[in-house]
Amino acid sequence: MINILMVCLGNICRSPLAEGILRNKLTSEKYYIDSAGTAGYHIGKQPDDRSIKVAKKYSIDISNQKCRQFTVADFENFDHIYVMDMSNYKNVIALAPNDKAKQKVLLILNEIFPNDNVDVPDPYYGGDDGFEKVFKMLDKSCAAIVLKLKQNS
Ligand code: 4NP
Repeated sequence: MINILMVCLGNICRSPLAEGILRNKLTSEKYYIDSAGTAGYHIGKQPDDRSIKVAKKYSIDISNQKCRQFTVADFENFDHIYVMDMSNYKNVIALAPNDKAKQKVLLILNEIFPNDNVDVPDPYYGGDDGFEKVFKMLDKSCAAIVLKLKQNS
């Protein structure tokens, strides 16, 4: 089993999309994919309507996801932890109990722009076009993740 966690700030916009997109590409039961937020503002809520809408446009249903907060136990439970931006990276790394845990944390856009440390922009305060752009970035990154996982398996 390979467990992959997607992390953003609120777990209602970016990481639910990343979770849905990757799950749609990795249908084998070998993979478990989840998402979480570094903040606890929206615990128990479903993803933002704009994320649900853009995912649906590409035939992905994320409406059943429920927001949860990232916890230290996630370092034990997941093999790869993909964060959406540098702020998430710092927040997650600050909770890491050891170097092994730190090494699990990767910036998701580094999968397509290696070592560039580019953020997935937070679309929360913008319009629908921001969500469309985020979807496309995450779709490319998730395709690269799939390729890497399949090469390593
Ligand atoms: P996300 O976006 O981190 O992509 O889920 C946000 C959602 C909510 C808030 C901030 C960012 N908020 O401040 O409530």
